Amino acid sequence: MKRLLIVGAQKLYLSLNDSVEFAKQLVKAVDGKPFPFDIAVCPSFINLAFVANILRGSPIAIGAQNVHQENSGAYTGQVSMQELLGIRVQYVIVGHSELRNQQGETNGMVRQKAKIALKHKVVPIVCIGESKEEREAGRSKEVIERDIREIFTDIPRDDFAAENVVVAYEPVWAIKAGRDDKSTVAATPDLANEMHKFIRSVLSEIYSSDIAEKIRILYGGSVSPENAQDLLKEPSIDGLLVGTASVKIEFFLKILEAAEEMVSRARLTWTR
Ligand code: PGA
Repeated sequence: MKRLLIVGAQKLYLSLNDSVEFAKQLVKAVDGKPFPFDIAVCPSFINLAFVANILRGSPIAIGAQNVHQENSGAYTGQVSMQELLGIRVQYVIVGHSELRNQQGETNGMVRQKAKIALKHKVVPIVCIGESKEEREAGRSKEVIERDIREIFTDIPRDDFAAENVVVAYEPVWAIKAGRDDKSTVAATPDLANEMHKFIRSVLSEIYSSDIAEKIRILYGGSVSPENAQDLLKEPSIDGLLVGTASVKIEFFLKILEAAEEMVSRARLTWTR
């Protein structure tokens, strides 16, 4: 079994002060604990460098919520991989549905972003997920397969260290539309597990089953302290990408506790 990864993507929810306070409390809570799984926090760009300074030296990694596919140039308002490397970012989220829908990000752009991350030894967290309409039309697997093939087929195997790629299955219909959105609910653990198995089968066709086995596939979409453990119990779920529940320290800590309990209960042999 792979080492679990829990990622908190704080979107545009926190002020600089709140983001810094969150990071301080998180570091205090995990201080000195040998964490048997990986944790990353992805604050907004403006908060990133401040939070990175607080997390440095702790077991918590720092990640960015996006990157531009070019290293420099006339790209007003964008953030490059070079800049992210300057603050030693370890993960970067690419292909999030909010960027696809709000800023027209395409699979081609996601592929370029994943490639530039891999080139600089930053782990890309590649998001894929079907919309409500696609799901209702029975097209979930078709859409997922198309996206994986378009993003990954051109990432050659040489560049490709499987343990350095993370895929996040984020069904768009399960992602909360705002902090107070109570009507959106997560995929059931069964459904998420089935989709993760499918994702892995497509990845093994592109690469090999050995490589596909090493790729961590996270679930994202309305993850909460209540459902985290049930999701993590599923054998094909290798971690969680947490949005709304990663902006309240007490929620995020409960999700980490759920992961910790899972790991110790299962008495797993960790690979890293
Ligand atoms: P949510 O967001 O946990 O607020 O549903 C998940 C995501 O967008 O990654």
